Amino acid sequence: MDKFVIKGGHPLTGSIATGGSKNAALPALAAALLTAEPVILRRIPKVRDIRTMQRLLVDIGSKVEGGPESVRIETPEITSPEAPYELVKTMRASSLVLGPLAARAGRARVSLPGGCAIGARPIDLHIAGLEQLGAVIYQSHGYVEADASQGLRGATVHFDKITVTGTEDLMMAATLAEGTTILENAAREPEVADLADLLMKMGAKIEGAGTSTIRIEGVQRLGGADHTIISDRIEAGTFLIAGAITRGDLLVTECPIEHLSALIVKLQQAGAEVTQQDAATLRVRSSGALRSVDITTEEYPGFATDLQAQYMALMTQAEGIAIVTETIFENRFMHAQELARMGANIRLDGRRAFIAGPRELTGAGVIASDLRASASLVLAAMAARGETVIDRVYHIDRGYEKIEEKLARAGAQIERAD
Ligand code: UD1
Repeated sequence: MDKFVIKGGHPLTGSIATGGSKNAALPALAAALLTAEPVILRRIPKVRDIRTMQRLLVDIGSKVEGGPESVRIETPEITSPEAPYELVKTMRASSLVLGPLAARAGRARVSLPGGCAIGARPIDLHIAGLEQLGAVIYQSHGYVEADASQGLRGATVHFDKITVTGTEDLMMAATLAEGTTILENAAREPEVADLADLLMKMGAKIEGAGTSTIRIEGVQRLGGADHTIISDRIEAGTFLIAGAITRGDLLVTECPIEHLSALIVKLQQAGAEVTQQDAATLRVRSSGALRSVDITTEEYPGFATDLQAQYMALMTQAEGIAIVTETIFENRFMHAQELARMGANIRLDGRRAFIAGPRELTGAGVIASDLRASASLVLAAMAARGETVIDRVYHIDRGYEKIEEKLARAGAQIERAD
């Protein structure tokens, strides 16, 4: 198993480029199942979750050809409308094929995800929505089976709770349903809007994606498209925090600035200087003392739960007590214990974490427990005195493309080891 060996104390300088968004690319790949024609996707990040999704598409019947800059997916026929447990257990987003398969093939069989490191993460809202579109759902042997052989019909679906992939799944299903679907209390994340852009290029009729009410007029068929994925706001946000925590002076390029407002405000309040250089470049500088600033994770446009762990690492270096409240997932503080092993002073109370700082962090052996938790350990290690060895970095490879190479080019002392 790969490890990262990091020597702390080196400020990040120069520039670091953001890649395509993993969370936008995953539903875009699933959307390709809605048509027999080729779909070309550009700026697909080369990360493990994307490889898992591509493997799933091949099992389902797609031809997937990857070039250096783009991926071409062609699915003349759905040969096996199924997402098996072996794939779903490694990547919950596999459930994104449920809606497209029900819509295109009239049936889908998808493993139920079960628990994961950060919480329960059920897909009950995807299932309830599909039922409202007329699919008959059975659950047995750990699988959910959707029978939509009579065709899907448009309906008004009100999500009890905001769900990102649930909104995407239902939006995809509704593109081929008969009549109009209205999704209420829909997720407003930029990745939902990017998926809608792709679907519209394929011929779908969608209004309101990016707002909490999405209206989809079903069409008979969808065609091929050529689409460039948006930049990854979580990767860019991680680099901004990296610049601040290492007391660097860093340019983050290809940065989706408008998607990062909540983080930028908090970084500025905490004393980091964040300035816009051009339409897609932010400069982050931090030399003076950092101040504690509380955050509460929320659905977009609130503070992203996917940046909570990284922000907590930063707060270990800030003066005062910062309160981090996690409202999206019930068990997303596993990084706190590992940060504590490096010297952080963190007390947990249910969904709140109290971080008292500044504390000098010292290098230690730590274990990555999930994707974003591992990013927070990389950040802490770059700010720590001495050497940190992070074990199980396969978690970070799920969502960050060659993060060690990108950080090393900006001056970090980081190496991958067996
Ligand atoms: C997506 C992102 C993930 C991010 C999360 C929240 C992708 C591939 N992943 O995950 O990186 O952390 O949004 O911003 O885009 N829930 C239910 N029932 C459901 C669905 C969700 O109760 O059917 C709950 C979840 O347990 C969680 C909350 O709703 O507490 C939000 O989850 P959701 O938005 O669905 O997260 P994902 O789409 O899985």
